[in-house]
Amino acid sequence: IAFDAYGTLFDVYSMGQLAEELFPGNGSGFALMWRDRQIEYTRLVTMSDPSPGGSKHYLPFWELTVRSLRYVCKRMNLNLTPEYELRLMNQYAKLTSFEDSMHVLKAIKDKGISTAILSNGSKEMLATVVESNGLTTYLDKVVTVEDIRLFKTAPQAYELLLKAFPVNKEDILFVSSNAWDALAAKWFGFDVFWVNRLGHPFEEIGEKPNYEGSSLSKVLEVFLIHLFGFYSRVNQH
Ligand code: LAC
Repeated sequence: IAFDAYGTLFDVYSMGQLAEELFPGNGSGFALMWRDRQIEYTRLVTMSDPSPGGSKHYLPFWELTVRSLRYVCKRMNLNLTPEYELRLMNQYAKLTSFEDSMHVLKAIKDKGISTAILSNGSKEMLATVVESNGLTTYLDKVVTVEDIRLFKTAPQAYELLLKAFPVNKEDILFVSSNAWDALAAKWFGFDVFWVNRLGHPFEEIGEKPNYEGSSLSKVLEVFLIHLFGFYSRVNQH
């Protein structure tokens, strides 16, 4: 069972609270625009040079996060002092996990199933956030796109999980709170669980996710169904 990181295990929207403190009245709008611009940059980099060896425009996710922060502050006429930038990025580096993240990872591992992160994040930033939330022992692998220099939703990014684990596509359950990520993973061929905490509509294109729930904990409810499918496939071979 593989998880997206930012927004799925780690609460990116909590950045809105610090932003509100620094830029009163603008916190939530700022946090949303920052997140959108960050993802927009990953797409721009990937689509403008989807070469097998990686995009020549590649910059690590950490760097794209800083650049998008600067852009959004200019766009919203917010004065981003070096001190504010440092505070925001320091908090980003140590985002807190959602309250059920650890419990869910632990419960899955207790059943003998492998757990992983598949994220656009750079290796260092993922190592920091995983460790600061005490999740290291509950994750078998932290897979990042850094080596291929192409971001999700490039198929090569999802394929990294098949290189990390010796299983078939359909034996992976991919969990993401980002509808775009859930959709692309489904297109790639994984079974998908969409964590829809805010009750948003799913995308209007593509296939619906296999499962949807309002929190990560709901993953545990579908977990047995998925496991059953896995064992029936293994036994047929
Ligand atoms: C990630 C972001 C895109 O962790 O949520 O990959």
